Amino acid sequence: MSHVSDLRPSVTIPDLQRLAAAGKKIVMITAYDAVTARIADAAKVDIMLVGDSVSNVCLGFDNSLPVTMAMMAHHLEAVARTRPRALLLVDMPYLSYHLGVEDTVRNAGDFMRRGAQGVKLEGGAKRVPVVRALVDAEIPVMGHLGLTPQSIHRMGGHKVQGKTGKAAVELLEDALRLQDAGCFSVLMEGIPAELAARVTEELEVPTIGIGAGAGCSGQVLVFHDIVGLTPDRPPKFVRAYMNAFEEIGAALARWGEDVREGSFPGPQESFTLPEEAREALKRWRPASPSNGEHQLAQDLALAPVK
Ligand code: KIV
Repeated sequence: MSHVSDLRPSVTIPDLQRLAAAGKKIVMITAYDAVTARIADAAKVDIMLVGDSVSNVCLGFDNSLPVTMAMMAHHLEAVARTRPRALLLVDMPYLSYHLGVEDTVRNAGDFMRRGAQGVKLEGGAKRVPVVRALVDAEIPVMGHLGLTPQSIHRMGGHKVQGKTGKAAVELLEDALRLQDAGCFSVLMEGIPAELAARVTEELEVPTIGIGAGAGCSGQVLVFHDIVGLTPDRPPKFVRAYMNAFEEIGAALARWGEDVREGSFPGPQESFTLPEEAREALKRWRPASPSNGEHQLAQDLALAPVK
């Protein structure tokens, strides 16, 4: 199996374009902290995304709307400190790119200074001005179309998009507008496979799919979904390769049993006391109640053994 990461020390946007042009699939995953970043990088993913799904996946919120720039920056920095070989992208959170071009560039620039190598933002034609401004500020942008979680209330839930003729054509045109504005890639979420394949055919830039069928240039999934760490039933488009929730839970339960029955910690998990300290402890006697003062450990070690 060939990965971009096998070819170069770190993955670049031109690498991804070459990979897609050669008909090789791009592998992208979310990462939210140093642990998930190290595991994902060891698995040789091509792109790592600090997704705003951190909101519901890690922070206990119901959807992605509550996460702020400060929260995203906190998670981005944790991932960036691991210096991943994968291209490091970060999601622009809700309201960080809706209030004007200048505000958007400042926010995205802040992420770049913290180690991001590009940003992702949701929406089609209406995002063209901000995409242009970001690209102009040398900030690579991945577009995000279809089921855009920040529009959860407009969509009436996490529902498959692009199912009518009008919606399908609109999505295709949005993708072309994003490409023209300078997006280096377009991610499509929760749309019929045939529509995503057609968009991929029409675009020159690589597409990334999640719940968008096999016809995209690459695929992304949420880290916790792949390893079965999500307590709720994951969406239909997820394939979980293990049940880490159960496996980790079982390991913790075994440790708890060992603690309760006294078999943890054993000698191999304990530190031994040097001979000299053992002798000092043997010689130690409580301070006399008459002076009521605590003696220093050194004094105690020197006290004559009675
Ligand atoms: O935040 C996220 O998890 C995403 C997915 C589409 C990968 O944006």
